[in-house]
Amino acid sequence: MASGREHFGGRAAVIMAMAGSAIGLGNIWRFPYMVGEYGGAAFILIFILCSFILSFPIFLAEAVIGRKAHANAIGAMNKLAPGSFWKVLGYLSIITPTIIVSYYSIVGGWSIEYFLKSLSLDFGEFMPSGWTALLFNTIFLGLSCIIVAFGIKDGIERFNKISIPLLFVLIVLIMVYSVNMPGAEKGVEYLVKPDFSKITGRTFAFALGQSFYSMSLGMGIIITYSSYVSKDENLVASGAGTVIAALLFSFLAGFAIMPAVFSAGIAPSSGPGLVFQTLPHVFTGMGASSSHWLATVIAALFFFSVVVAAMTSSISLIEVGVAYLVEERHMKRKAACLLIFAITWLLGLASVFSIDIFGKVDAFSSNFLLTVGVMLVVLFVGWKMDKEDFREELTNSGKVNAKVVGVIFFLIRYVAPITVLTIFISNLVL
Ligand code: PHE
Repeated sequence: MASGREHFGGRAAVIMAMAGSAIGLGNIWRFPYMVGEYGGAAFILIFILCSFILSFPIFLAEAVIGRKAHANAIGAMNKLAPGSFWKVLGYLSIITPTIIVSYYSIVGGWSIEYFLKSLSLDFGEFMPSGWTALLFNTIFLGLSCIIVAFGIKDGIERFNKISIPLLFVLIVLIMVYSVNMPGAEKGVEYLVKPDFSKITGRTFAFALGQSFYSMSLGMGIIITYSSYVSKDENLVASGAGTVIAALLFSFLAGFAIMPAVFSAGIAPSSGPGLVFQTLPHVFTGMGASSSHWLATVIAALFFFSVVVAAMTSSISLIEVGVAYLVEERHMKRKAACLLIFAITWLLGLASVFSIDIFGKVDAFSSNFLLTVGVMLVVLFVGWKMDKEDFREELTNSGKVNAKVVGVIFFLIRYVAPITVLTIFISNLVL
């Protein structure tokens, strides 16, 4: 089975692909806003802790499943726990990303539209639904599916290897510009000033939820991507590289966005409003008060980055379903991409035309389904899977990481399920 499968070409390729999935709209429109709203530096500290103590081990739990089985998410569960309840985890891992991509690509479409608008620095009103949104959604989804159709090495690996370094360069450029704007200090302060009074039980729930979403956990992505990681790759090192890249990008995005927002004297809004309503005002204001062409360049670079960041994530979402169709349903890769395109495009119609449904689909998939997925992963790896298999995957049969495996296993077996359950219940009642 493993013989005909493609592999990522080495550590850098693995980290770029995983980081490509991790770095996305979550870092750009959710993270900067949440930091300010939930306690500044205090929130950042909790977010970092959640990322290392929980997201990192959970990432490794998924990585172990994927690489051990060398198969798509459903195939992996069939191999590791044949004919058992655990196939639920496989099915969920295919369903969740397919639902997510149906609305995620709509935001990708808005970003393309805003990139084009930024070229004339004329944004007009933010109209999140309707035929234009459908057109740009179709373009975004189509491009993403085409990349996936090229395969692991020629499509996904190649696209991420160019995009991720490019994204870092662009966001640093924008950040340098942003923090040098007049009055930018207030934005910096918004991000780094700790406000412990804003820390409540909910802060932990939000920090953890954001960390899971940002690391693309609980939806079969890390399982699927890890199935393309070769046996001699060090999973712990690749995972650590991915977590650090994703964290770093979130911070850079925060410092690229908030100082500019505060410099323009605008209160930061939440969610899509931040990127598609607040920032366009900032850019047009910049164009009117200082250099028009510089404002145009910064706006265009910014929205271009949003498109690319969203695309590196959407291709990971699409690959989960495609891998399943190719391996379990014996479809050709191109046909599988076309089918996923059709399914997600149709699913997306509801969200394209109703922002209300859009919000509900987002909340249902990225809060509820994702949390259930994460829970099943940690229960499976912590309690059902053979511990020796786990050790073997993380140590490459005893060659690396022998000292840390025990700690990681403890976190997966005990700490993760208890925390996730607590958060899950608090989300339902709060
Ligand atoms: N991790 C991506 C982000 O932060 C979003 C994403 C969610 C990607 C779910 C894949 C799956 O934007």
